[in-house]
Amino acid sequence: MIQRIVAVYFSPTRTTQTVTTALAQQLAETQGCPYEEIDITTPAQRRAVLQFSETDLVVFGAPVYIGRMPNLISPYFKTLCGHGAWAVPVAVYGNRAYDDGLIELRDILEEDGFRLIAAGAFVGEHTFSRILGAGRPDHKDLECIREFATGIAQHLSLLTNRLVGKLNVPGTPYPYAGFYPATDQQQKRIDIRKALPQTNASKCNRCGLCATLCAMEAIDPNDCSQIIGKCIKCGACLKRCPQGAKYFDDPQYLSHLQLLEEKFSSRRCEPELFYCDIE
Ligand SMILES: Cc1cc2nc3c(=O)[nH]c(=O)nc-3n(C[C@H](O)[C@H](O)[C@H](O)COP(=O)(O)O)c2cc1C
Ligand code: SF4
Ligand code: SF4
Repeated sequence: MIQRIVAVYFSPTRTTQTVTTALAQQLAETQGCPYEEIDITTPAQRRAVLQFSETDLVVFGAPVYIGRMPNLISPYFKTLCGHGAWAVPVAVYGNRAYDDGLIELRDILEEDGFRLIAAGAFVGEHTFSRILGAGRPDHKDLECIREFATGIAQHLSLLTNRLVGKLNVPGTPYPYAGFYPATDQQQKRIDIRKALPQTNASKCNRCGLCATLCAMEAIDPNDCSQIIGKCIKCGACLKRCPQGAKYFDDPQYLSHLQLLEEKFSSRRCEPELFYCDIE
């Protein structure tokens, strides 16, 4: 008997938050349960050890980074204690592909001790771009999320006195395929790790918000133009700076972005939904 619906999300530019909370809220409505949100985007928010119980249903959302779960954040995902709670892994990707992101998230939550009822892959506006997956999740995605909540509720009711089977999702099983090989427009492999966000001093009013929002505490709170930690290009400082003062000028990063936009912005990937087997 489910008594609580919890949305847990890592979401620097908030598309995963939108998908995860919309699904969890809809589930809370259909199940008539209380609803909670746990944001794990910043290091301060990731200090807690999250514990769940058999009467919880957790919608766990994370974005796909280079075809996998964000590699510097997923070690935290592995510290969750499911204790038999139900879970719905949700991978959000920027209209290119989710590759092994969803299968990896499924495996992590299973290892954490969750019972997996369903999973979804959804599109969010690409972190690097304003035109790739622009405005996603949109009205049509939210409609699909409502249908997904109904489908999960029906699936749960079918499981009464039956055993939960495997939750099959697309992807290469463990040890997974390699990370997506990012290239520039000349198809040359690039390394965007060295690209760092720059600050337009004439726009920045030193409000400090970017340092607070950074998923890695990589921005110096005393001088927000300085990167003092590891930047994972999560986009929080760029897309959420109220002054639009942050930007990338790294040529390889910009060439990769242009390539992504040329190849993938004219098509529309749709949400994909998966349900566990019933035995
Ligand atoms: C470092 C990095 C790598 C990414 N790699 C992919 C990818 O392989 N495929 C894809 O479709 N989107 C990729 N994206 C885009 C994000 O998955 C997508 O924009 C997602 O909606 C961001 O979630 P958020 O708004 O919750 O931060 C990447 C984003 C970042 C920052
Ligand atoms: S959020 Fe924007 S305006 Fe505020 S300190 Fe950071 S760069 Fe400057
Ligand atoms: S500095 Fe890097 S890790 Fe921090 S918010 Fe900006 S893009 Fe994300």
